[in-house]
Amino acid sequence: MKRIKDAVYWVGKVDWEVRRFHGTEYSTHRGTSYNAYLVRDEKTVLIDTVWDVFGMQFVEHLKNGIDLNEIDFIIANHAEPDHSGALAELMKHIPDTPIYCTQNAIKSLKGHFHQDWNFVPVKTGDRLSLGSRELMFIEAPMLHWPDSMFCYLTEDHILFSNDAFGQHCATARLYNDLVDQGELYQEGIKYYANILTPFSGLVMNKIEEFQSLNLPLEMICPSHGVIWRIEPLQIIEKYREWSQDYQKDQITIVYDTMYNGTRAMAESIAEGIGRVDQDVAVKLFNISRTDKNDVITEVFKSKCMLLGSPTINRGILSAVAGFLEEIRGLSFKNKRAAAFGTYGWSGESVKLIEKGLEEAGFDLLVEGIRSLWNPDTDVLRQCLDLRKEIGNRTKRNPG
Ligand code: FEO
Repeated sequence: MKRIKDAVYWVGKVDWEVRRFHGTEYSTHRGTSYNAYLVRDEKTVLIDTVWDVFGMQFVEHLKNGIDLNEIDFIIANHAEPDHSGALAELMKHIPDTPIYCTQNAIKSLKGHFHQDWNFVPVKTGDRLSLGSRELMFIEAPMLHWPDSMFCYLTEDHILFSNDAFGQHCATARLYNDLVDQGELYQEGIKYYANILTPFSGLVMNKIEEFQSLNLPLEMICPSHGVIWRIEPLQIIEKYREWSQDYQKDQITIVYDTMYNGTRAMAESIAEGIGRVDQDVAVKLFNISRTDKNDVITEVFKSKCMLLGSPTINRGILSAVAGFLEEIRGLSFKNKRAAAFGTYGWSGESVKLIEKGLEEAGFDLLVEGIRSLWNPDTDVLRQCLDLRKEIGNRTKRNPG
């Protein structure tokens, strides 16, 4: 147990080893943490638990700090197993302890655990007295699941935000001011881009709803990564920015290649952009050789993406197809795109990529560039010249 403020303790687990999350869908290069908290007033409340892999260790650590029977209430802000998983072990010891959560969380928790624990449904505005403090509940559906909620601790002015405002980042330092700020920003924006982008409208509404409550805010305690104790509003302001069709002056080129023809096209496009625009950031990734979540983060930052693949079996390379499926689900807004690729005979790749980009909500800037076999001088010139269309059209629509 680590005291973070007066009667509030961190009782979570730092997972230095994990490198894949959500199965293998999300890369966690810097590990993560599952933050749980204990508040000790006249009543004692446990806020969230940890991933079930660490369930026994979590309960043992709790027992070293308190008699488990002293826990009066459990709050389950979110039913996803990285936060609720250790309930299975904990409830063996204190099976009658009430679990406060949303109505949707009751469904999810019953679905996961098939247990009829002592659930107490709560909704926005409900309060739970701990003695000299109260916990106030704020439902936050789809941040990140339908069951998600925040809770706010009066007197200490702490928002326990669960997934929101988190980062997948293991650290020996619990607080935002004690870690590398570049790494913190990178993990924060990667988390938003890959997990929360589809729910940006709800993020914006939730920020406005929370701020309309005019609650003093001294700390934000998310369930992954660091606690925001210095200028906690900074991450709320970042979320506000990211939730409004975010983009920087960046163009990202993503491709896969078989015999380096599509790669040569990608590199010519990058060179052409760089020749005429010294300010725009240009980034280029072979999607089959680069972590897809890192590439998605770069696309999230971009005003425009160029996507390329050669044709194979009347289709596109599987890494590009998988990437298109990822970005379709993320529903990026206010982004432009174009396609390119080589072919030998049937040549469907560019049209298929364009179809996928449109389905993902990207605006096509220009007709894609196709190269029969390896790109020759004419094709490479077309790639170099793509800069003109891209430059002109993105400048007209800065977004
Ligand atoms: Fe960290 Fe949606 O779970």
